[in-house]
Amino acid sequence: MSKFHTETVTHVHHWNDSLFSIKTTRDAGLRFRNGEFAMIGIMVDGKPLMRAYSIASPNYEEHLEFFSIKVQDGPLTSRLQHIQVGDELMVSKKPTGTLVLDDLLPGKHLYMLSTGTGLAPFLSLSRDPDVYEAFDKIILCHGVRKVEDLAYRDMFEATLPNDELFGDWYNEKFIYYPTVTRDEFRYTGRITDLMTSGKLYEDIGLPPMNKDDDRAMICGSMPFNADISKILDGYGMTVSPRMGVPADYLVERAFVG
Ligand code: A2P
Repeated sequence: MSKFHTETVTHVHHWNDSLFSIKTTRDAGLRFRNGEFAMIGIMVDGKPLMRAYSIASPNYEEHLEFFSIKVQDGPLTSRLQHIQVGDELMVSKKPTGTLVLDDLLPGKHLYMLSTGTGLAPFLSLSRDPDVYEAFDKIILCHGVRKVEDLAYRDMFEATLPNDELFGDWYNEKFIYYPTVTRDEFRYTGRITDLMTSGKLYEDIGLPPMNKDDDRAMICGSMPFNADISKILDGYGMTVSPRMGVPADYLVERAFVG
């Protein structure tokens, strides 16, 4: 039996020259936890070419959504960026991943720390009612180079505040903190620097992170994940060593984009 469902592309959105999102149909049998990733891909020379992609849509939606970078010589993304509505996309039947609510110890504040397309799992988790039940504040930091790379900004600034289901919760609990390193913007600088200088905490009006109150999920480039982990270790926070072992913070290790 195949390990993959064959889905149909229903929408493609190009944010700019380097970022795009795909929506597909969703097999009725697919189950996943918000924050998990699936292997997705296409057939190339008769063989499946698959990569790990966090599922950007929440698990109660009827469709699936993925957020991707375009790498001109990337084996999959050089092809995937040309995908069209009506094309087929293969999606693995068993999503998995480390960024799940079940693996965080109870806490007051949840920090979701991302760069680039590492935002994807947090797009799903930002619309998970259990996240709002579990935490008093949810802080989403998204670090990118240019303002135009702030994909989904409108969802956080305009859609979710007015969402019928989430609006009140979102407005009370959610802090969207986009930061840009190579343009002028409201917030500038690397997330790591904003944490160590304390500017992040000043801007959002919360005390610096500490082991008693704060929990975190990390999803970005390998150096970002490593540098943030070092900072959290310095706060005395512990990382989950593997799935199913709850801790103060979680790192998505499958993410490569
Ligand atoms: P910078 O512009 O200073 O490199 P990329 O597109 O290279 O993945 O970077 C996305 C964002 O993450 C950029 O704002 C980049 O800042 C920042 N970044 C890259 N590496 C790190 C790191 N090790 N720690 C913190 N931020 C990082």
